Amino acid sequence: MGFKNNDLVIIKDEKEKSFIQRLVKNGRLQTHLGTIYHKDIIGKDDGADIKTSTGNKANVFYPTLNDYIQKMARKTAIIHPKDIAVILLWADIKHKDRIVEAGTGSGALLMALLRFLNSKGHIYSYDNRPELQQMAVKNIEKFYGKIPKNVTLKDKDITTGIEESDLDAVILDFSQPWDVIPEALQALKSGGKFVSYIPTIIQAERLVKELQASERFMEIEILEVLLRPWQIKGYSVRPHHRMVGHTGFMVFARLKGLSRD
Ligand SMILES: C[S@@+](CC[C@H](N)C(=O)[O-])C[C@H]1O[C@@H](n2cnc3c(N)ncnc32)[C@H](O)[C@@H]1O
Repeated sequence: MGFKNNDLVIIKDEKEKSFIQRLVKNGRLQTHLGTIYHKDIIGKDDGADIKTSTGNKANVFYPTLNDYIQKMARKTAIIHPKDIAVILLWADIKHKDRIVEAGTGSGALLMALLRFLNSKGHIYSYDNRPELQQMAVKNIEKFYGKIPKNVTLKDKDITTGIEESDLDAVILDFSQPWDVIPEALQALKSGGKFVSYIPTIIQAERLVKELQASERFMEIEILEVLLRPWQIKGYSVRPHHRMVGHTGFMVFARLKGLSRD
């Protein structure tokens, strides 16, 4: 069947530059390696070779969620996919989970949570700046086609209260996560996961100390993820010259149940 009009694709050129495009019959993409006409893509299979107007080679794919998140429009910092991957497993996210996240921002984490929940469970995504949430709406609609039913976008400052209860996870990506500790204590179920993504170690230290002081959180863990891609080209078998440096620290904790012997 191949690529169709209106499909979302990613074009990767020989210099490893990539471009997200929505295919339209008369569409074209101008690159430093020549023009690529959408009509030369429509009908081709995922991964197919195409030629630019100057004879350079490129390949076309359906974008993975990782491709899309790295290229999508943003008005905020996003959680990098290497960190999202760890959050999903460390927070033990499952299909039927009920999750609160803040802030929505550009929607990178939210898009991955939606993929993991696979139309089940529910995500309540808070942001106190609706204009930033609109960026997430656009990104989700572009990749998934529409806003799934299992997400509720809330225009609300999360430090003023979490309206949901019996949550499996509370995931925070903004500068003062410690302000949400009392709210998270009320809203999480026993064993529920508290997750925070923060840029500096000073913030991480403050958060960990306040979690410890609450005496209700266990298994507090702080980590960062260093991803080092390698290349193998002939004798050039070595790490890439460039790698993503610092993104953020992640703090994980688990709510202790209150039942006694
Ligand atoms: C770094 S961005 C989040 C990025 C998002 N996690 C992503 O992966 O694309 C931080 C967001 O938190 C929002 N925010 C800051 N303080 C907040 C608060 N008290 N309650 C709700 N949202 C807040 C900001 O408006 C901003 O959109």
